[in-house]
Amino acid sequence: MAGGATLLVCGAPNQTPISASRYHRTMRTPLMAGNWKMFKTPAETTEFFEKFVPLVAKADHAEIAICPPFINIPAAVAGAKGSKVTIGGQNCYWVNKEGAFTGEVNAPMLKAAGCTWVIIGHSERRQFFGETDATVFQRTTAALEAGIKPIVCVGELLAERESGQTNEVLKTQFMGGIAPLTPEQFAQVVIAYEPVWAIGTGKVATPEIAQDAHRVIRSLAGEKFGAEAAAAVLILYGGSVKPDNVAGLMAQPDIDGALVGGASLKPEDFAGVVNFQ
Ligand code: 13P
Repeated sequence: MAGGATLLVCGAPNQTPISASRYHRTMRTPLMAGNWKMFKTPAETTEFFEKFVPLVAKADHAEIAICPPFINIPAAVAGAKGSKVTIGGQNCYWVNKEGAFTGEVNAPMLKAAGCTWVIIGHSERRQFFGETDATVFQRTTAALEAGIKPIVCVGELLAERESGQTNEVLKTQFMGGIAPLTPEQFAQVVIAYEPVWAIGTGKVATPEIAQDAHRVIRSLAGEKFGAEAAAAVLILYGGSVKPDNVAGLMAQPDIDGALVGGASLKPEDFAGVVNFQ
């Protein structure tokens, strides 16, 4: 988020500093999004919003989103009314026409319920529910067609990082799930980099490790969609973001916000993340 200033921090000639970004941040407004996963009841949702909304009333520097379980969306929408907090789903089916798909919720339903966003391809869906890059693409296009903004998640497993495959994994996920979008569709997408080893483990990626991955993702976006689109796309970091580590992450030039699990469940903690500056 620190603009292009880091380009001036030069090391040896011809050596690109780790935090350097080729894409200067011009108009990227940060997005701080909470992913509640399978936590809270409707009553607990109402209680959260009563406490949370006043705590972020002055947060003009960022967009704020909460993605609760489907069952809590009405309570969340009601709780966020009159505030700048927006609401999202955690998944959507890839068929937008209603039909016989037991257990599924589609993007037009999310839209009708008052959602702005939907998380697509979270690593827990990839790991436990058979999500693939192909279904990520299908869900993403369905969301876009319904007027819902997708937050598309990518990220490597610990074993993949340890065996030096991180960039390859990010490329595969980007090429399969995001690259087939049209430029117009891509302009509506938010990407979230969530290294699986940092999710729910308390092991946050260092700002340098996260920045490195974000730079790779932005470069992929540049190769596919051009420099302007790459400079405009929001790339969030997710994985053990807390009030005490968010500022270091947000200081990186290619980190445009956070996708927060555990710390989004408590109003004070998530407000601490949102109000990072
Ligand atoms: P934690 O913040 O609990 O590590 O979860 C991150 C995440 O998966 C957000 O989508």
